[in-house]
Amino acid sequence: MILLKIEDVTVGYTEIDILHNVTVTVRSGEIVSVIGPNGAGKSTLLKTVFGILKPRNGNITLKEKHITGLRPDRIVRKGISYVPQVENVFSSMTIQENLEMGAFIRRDDYSQRLEEVFDLFPVLRERKKQKAGHLSGGQRQMVAMGRALMLDPQVLLLDEPSAGLAPVLVSGIFEKIREVNATGVAMIIVEQNAKEALKMAHHGYVLAMGRNVLDDTGEALLANDEVGRLYLGG
Ligand SMILES: Nc1ncnc2c1ncn2[C@@H]1O[C@H](COP(=O)(O)OP(=O)(O)O)[C@@H](O)[C@H]1O
Ligand SMILES: [Mg+2]
Repeated sequence: MILLKIEDVTVGYTEIDILHNVTVTVRSGEIVSVIGPNGAGKSTLLKTVFGILKPRNGNITLKEKHITGLRPDRIVRKGISYVPQVENVFSSMTIQENLEMGAFIRRDDYSQRLEEVFDLFPVLRERKKQKAGHLSGGQRQMVAMGRALMLDPQVLLLDEPSAGLAPVLVSGIFEKIREVNATGVAMIIVEQNAKEALKMAHHGYVLAMGRNVLDDTGEALLANDEVGRLYLGG
């Protein structure tokens, strides 16, 4: 079933268009990876889905209902959570406080969800009283993901989850992303680490200069010579 559909979206920050008629489809439970060179518009795409930027043209639907142009506080209530590339945790707050911030719109008792998030990231449970600013990059990324998961989203938007992590931590964060996906959360992942992102993707999209270049299963894109040469560094 198609969960999230981004269709023919054109958007920009100023009068200049950055994305040109971009289309991306996410089916239930899928990991969709978006790769492409720096400046291709990958982060812009996620910001647009989350309502930070308003499309000039095109439609975004979640389960066939229009969410185009809704503000982030409305989008998050529809079941889409977003982990931005930078400044995605509150450094002066503890891990637990960060996670509780993620539940800000929940009126129900979220203690059970907190335990589920701690089950996914046991290291965060051990350190829940520590300030997030004192954590390693990998642990901070887990806090950011955990916070986004507190609302039990249908779709998680992850912008460069492995950026800035020491190489030894990268595989760990990708493993966590797979675990989160196994709980039924669909995702769009934007990654510089294109090879790893395609390895775990059910479907992948290549963006360049704000346009769709190619899309296929993760496997097919990995096996595609041109993709390999142009986007996977080999
Ligand atoms: N806040 C902004 N204001 C104006 N232009 C921006 C802004 N953020 C990004 N851009 C421009 O949009 C284009 C796409 O950027 P971005 O979506 O961040 O690319 P990517 O995430 O693929 O590296 C770039 O040309 C960038 O300079
Ligand atoms: Mg980016």
